Amino acid sequence: MKVPILRIPFTTEDKDFITSKIADVLDSGMLTSGKYTKEFEDLFSKFVGCKYAVTTNSCTSALEIIIRSLGIEGKSIIVPTNTFLATALAVMHSGNRVIFADSDPATFCLDPDDLKRRITEDTAAVILVHIGGIITPAYYEIKEICEKRGIYLIEDCAHAHGCSIDGKKAGTLGVAGAFSFFPTKPLVTGEGGMITTDDAELFKNACMIRNHGKNPELGGKISEFGYNYRISEITAVLGIQQLKKADKILAERRKIARWYDELLVDVKNIKRVEIPPNVISTYYKYIIYLSEEYSPIDVKRVMREKYGVALTGEVYDNLCHQEPIWQKYTYCGKLRGKEVNCKMWPKCGCDMVQDDFPGASYLSRHHVCLPLYPGLSEDDVKYVVESLDKTLNLDLKVGGRQA
Ligand SMILES: Cc1ncc(COP(=O)(O)O)c(C=O)c1O
Repeated sequence: MKVPILRIPFTTEDKDFITSKIADVLDSGMLTSGKYTKEFEDLFSKFVGCKYAVTTNSCTSALEIIIRSLGIEGKSIIVPTNTFLATALAVMHSGNRVIFADSDPATFCLDPDDLKRRITEDTAAVILVHIGGIITPAYYEIKEICEKRGIYLIEDCAHAHGCSIDGKKAGTLGVAGAFSFFPTKPLVTGEGGMITTDDAELFKNACMIRNHGKNPELGGKISEFGYNYRISEITAVLGIQQLKKADKILAERRKIARWYDELLVDVKNIKRVEIPPNVISTYYKYIIYLSEEYSPIDVKRVMREKYGVALTGEVYDNLCHQEPIWQKYTYCGKLRGKEVNCKMWPKCGCDMVQDDFPGASYLSRHHVCLPLYPGLSEDDVKYVVESLDKTLNLDLKVGGRQA
């Protein structure tokens, strides 16, 4: 048996729907910013339960647009070092400085105590990333920290389509949320993103920034520092198809996770990452910790070579502050050199090395993610778990330690 890293099942019915709508797009000549983009946004705002949704060509641009729509520039924005670098890149693209913070190994998400330590006078926003589809119960504390200090809380929901905490959906927990529809994500359009918000002003600004800064109140004259961050109508058609099936797709992810929960109980030398009881996850990742003696790289290699099981990417094994980019660029995205072209340098702190993230460092070294996507059968999941068990407790058995 082989279990690939990812499959994205499209049924004949899905393909019929998509091709007929694409034919309609082609016949209409309206290839961008048309009725399907609007329908995708309407469906997504209903799905999340927010007032406004704005399509973008990626989650990275969605984050940048949110920051710029809030008028934040030349400030510090706190981002977990345990995220995909895109979260930090969006901060830099918006003309702001990234300050990394630590994560809690129990939830993989921002550690509120470390967050408090990193806040300074010029902190304007915090980006909370729901890693692997986990919304941290510390969200309430993080929200309070932000509210008390007048700091915006922005959500990076790239992993969190349909996730919720105490019934509140990801994308409604801060001033705005940013989603990705990259092919690995719970809902996909190939490329694409979405901003969700209840803030009318942010919505208005976001619509302009996404569209070259064109201002509808000025008859389309350009009054914002915009960009082309739009999606095509064909992408919107894919999004509509995904949203029509979202409940089914996300329920299937949860069903597969339940199978793992049950089958992993008997596997030695692992620890499941528990989803907090007040959280519903759609399991962008099914995360487990390995006993510390194991190298995730070896485990992944044996699983792949001996059992044909492809474990997915981690969340994350490379932390943002460790990426080589910082040798070349400052934390506000300026080229390093003898002279950094910035009035605030070096008072801004961009010359300092950011490190000391024990929680994120621990989780980055000891976890792996098991395959989880619609279409995996119970037999596939059994096979993955059996292969994992054999890999850990037979093939890579360490010094007779295991039973
Ligand atoms: C946490 C996180 N944020 C942002 C992104 C960027 O998403 P996109 O590729 O849609 O820009 C990703 C993509 O993997 C991600 O995992």
